[in-house]
Amino acid sequence: MAANAAPVIAIDGPSASGKGAVAQKVARRLHFHYLDSGSLYRLVGLAARHAQVSVTDERRVTGLAAALDVRFVDDDIYLDRQLVTDAIRSEEAGAAASEVAMLPGVRQALLERQRAFRAAPGLVADGRDMGSVVFPDAVVKIYLTADAEERAARRYKQLIRKGMDASMAALLQDIQARDNRDSKRAIAPLKKCSDAIFLDTTNLSIDDAVEQVVARYAAATQAP
Ligand code: C5P
Repeated sequence: MAANAAPVIAIDGPSASGKGAVAQKVARRLHFHYLDSGSLYRLVGLAARHAQVSVTDERRVTGLAAALDVRFVDDDIYLDRQLVTDAIRSEEAGAAASEVAMLPGVRQALLERQRAFRAAPGLVADGRDMGSVVFPDAVVKIYLTADAEERAARRYKQLIRKGMDASMAALLQDIQARDNRDSKRAIAPLKKCSDAIFLDTTNLSIDDAVEQVVARYAAATQAP
């Protein structure tokens, strides 16, 4: 890590593993900035749909990713000045995100945008390649996961709470398809880095996971 670079806590893992909730809570506890890198891929997927561009058209989707007009305001996200906070959370947006995320041009276009979130006093970043590609010098790297069935159940509750339609069987199928695509893709696949700490939240509450991450950070930054 460059001497003056703000510390980063990288939290990677599959979809619906709880990493977003854990990362946000850790950021709040430490008064750090927060990057939800998945939202950027979701925004690119949505931008492609708005522009009626196929998610497999690498040249045009990369152009959209590079020019993404996005604003994060408190807990809201605006794309081209349109409020898209809920729109990017749909299963359809998640599937489109994992399609555009396979395109090397898109990943390259989003790299600097993600690194720009790094600022004092520190950053908590969640995604798939935070520890491996975007912030390889992160002071703490966590690989957060849970059983696919448990993740589908969590997603189900989340969607129902928001008044959205959901089916457990379809969600499980979608999660498994996304895991498969994310871990098998050629570029920046989802995988646990050798220096990441494995945290299984199948039987662990979000708050317990937060405690563990904060403790790891304290241990990693404590003066000898
Ligand atoms: O984390 P979330 O489910 O919002 O991410 C949506 C999709 O974006 C993932 O399925 C993955 O394909 C992609 N993604 C990625 N790299 C990241 C974050 C998300 O490829 N750092």
